[in-house]
Parts: sequence; C-alpha cells; structure tokens
Amino acid sequence: MKNIVVLVSGGGTNLQRIIDCTASGEIPNAQVTLVVADRECFGLQRAANHGIPNMLIKRGQDFSANLAKVLPQVTDLIVLAGFLSILNREFCGSFSGKIINIHPALLPKFGGKGMWGHHVHEAVLEAGEKESGATVHFVTPGIDEGQIILQKPFEIADNETVESLAEKIHRIEHEILPVAINKVLKERVP
Ligand code: GRF
Repeated sequence: MKNIVVLVSGGGTNLQRIIDCTASGEIPNAQVTLVVADRECFGLQRAANHGIPNMLIKRGQDFSANLAKVLPQVTDLIVLAGFLSILNREFCGSFSGKIINIHPALLPKFGGKGMWGHHVHEAVLEAGEKESGATVHFVTPGIDEGQIILQKPFEIADNETVESLAEKIHRIEHEILPVAINKVLKERVP
C-alpha cells in the first residue's frame, strides 16, 4: 500500500477526487493516511467524512517544521491539493521528488508568488491568452518552478470569465491529478 498525505487550504474537491480514486482503484494500492490544512476549511471535513486522520496546523513560519513532526513515518507522496502555504527549503529538500502540486494554469506561465486561485485566471484573461489549463508539477523551494509531470490545455472561449475558467480548470484538475499521482507512484516509489 502506498501512503499519501494531502495538504489543503480550501474546499478540497481535488482531495475528494484522490479519496474517491483510491477507493475505486483508479489510484491502485494507495490510501490517504493524513490530511493537513493550514487554515479552517471544508477539506478537513471531507477527510473526516471518510474517517481519514486530519489536522489543522496554523499557517506561518513554523508550518513546515510542524508538518514534518506529524507526518506518518512511511509517507510515499505528499500532494498539495489547493494548498496555499509555501513549504520551506528544508522540507522540500527532505522530501525531494515526493511532493507534487496542482496549479490552475499552464506553467511556467502564470506561476509564482501571488499566482493562486482567481488571481491566476484574471492574469490569464488580461494577458489575452488563447489557452489555459492545469499543471501537476514537483514541488521545489522555488514557487511553481519544479519539473512538470502532467499538463492539459484547453482553448479559451470568447466569452470566458474568471468563473468559467475556474470551473473548466477544476474539471481538468480532477482528470489529470489521479493520472499524475499514478505516474509518480509508479516511477518514483519503489
Ligand atoms: C485548484 O484550482 C488548485 O489548482 C488551486 O486551488 C484550487 C483548489 O480547489 N491551487 P479544491 O480545493 O481542490 O476544490
């Protein structure tokens, strides 16, 4: 069994997708062993609904160190699923190649500090981009800079809004996140 820890800051639909895929076998031989949030959010409730251990570690300077203290000893993969804090260099170093993030745009464009949620979609529309999409990538100390694992684009419609972009991208995220998790577990975890 591969053990996955999921970090969340929000509604947790991507977390839900991971939980559902481990249950259905779409992500085979894997389980979510812990969900950690850096603020009160519905993601914690989703974990609780499935009897998955969950905890709130307040965001701030000590977050990474505090997270390291509570991680289950055998943790094969850490998935940032709508998680807004930045993990520090030391933490990223200790779990190099084992932390992945889902980002609501086509990296390397529209990533980095301040590029989250609606800010990303606003920037994409303002730039007059022809396409957007979602990216799953490895987490390194540089924000949104790690190697890309999987990406899926779509064409931006003429009447696209921040809301319609967010909805389309959520759907793409739910599609590519389990595929990316399977890829990483297969290639990187013995
Ligand atoms: C996703 O769009 C993700 O890319 C972004 O935050 C959103 C989280 O959605 N980083 P959810 O909480 O999984 O529904």
